[in-house]
Amino acid sequence: SENCVVIQAALPLECEYLVGLLANVRQEIRGGWVFWRGEYEGVDLIVSKTRMGLSNAAAATAIAIERYQPRAIINQGTSGGHDPELNVFDIVLGVQTVNCGMVKTPSVAAGGGSNSLTWVEAFDMLPDDESDPEPIRQRYYPADAELLAAARALRANYTHGKVVEGTIASADCWNNELDRIAFLRQHYGSSVEEMEAASVAQIAQQYGVPMLAIRVVSNNITNGGAYNPDTGKACQDFVLQVAKRYLQA
Ligand code: 5AD
Repeated sequence: SENCVVIQAALPLECEYLVGLLANVRQEIRGGWVFWRGEYEGVDLIVSKTRMGLSNAAAATAIAIERYQPRAIINQGTSGGHDPELNVFDIVLGVQTVNCGMVKTPSVAAGGGSNSLTWVEAFDMLPDDESDPEPIRQRYYPADAELLAAARALRANYTHGKVVEGTIASADCWNNELDRIAFLRQHYGSSVEEMEAASVAQIAQQYGVPMLAIRVVSNNITNGGAYNPDTGKACQDFVLQVAKRYLQA
């Protein structure tokens, strides 16, 4: 692999600051996904704008791995708090990620309605036994230990809030039902929700590429934390230091 890190973001507000810091930057586009290669203080970085959601994130990850053979991938950006202790601007280091949208619902007859608080069976997208068409398992993707160590070492440098460790839950869904959020927190142990990290973790794991998700809380309806887009820049600033430390180790 090359001694470079891919730093991903779904949205422009989550990557524009980073792109602006790159020297000798070259933009490359593959299948509609944009990548910027460049250097920052002596380390080689690739900034990738995945766009939103699990399938965008998966495709951009596979393309990045095939094309750049990176040493590691950091998926970063904004997220919504599930933990009322987390304030807007706090950062969660994703010790693990989980896709919380892949579920098998109970059987309910016509007219019986639909209640997501009863969706306790997680559907596994990577079962060992591929002959089972309804594999049930909560699948957690662990963070790479070396990336996590680099992030932990820089915790005290972050001045906009606290840096905690937790579980990042991903789905193609923005939850605004407080009971649903409480269910997800209880059932999956989630600290925050967003729409990409577990998909990136899944693809990176299948390729054997080290991966860490780092998410800033940009909104938290469990404690009244209003959405703040400035969190995107704060997260990029922290992630940049993590990538640099990792590559220089
Ligand atoms: N729920 C889901 N996704 C969120 N994001 C930020 N906050 C939330 C939230 N509360 C992230 C997603 C996606 C975009 C909407 O911002 O990862 O890319």
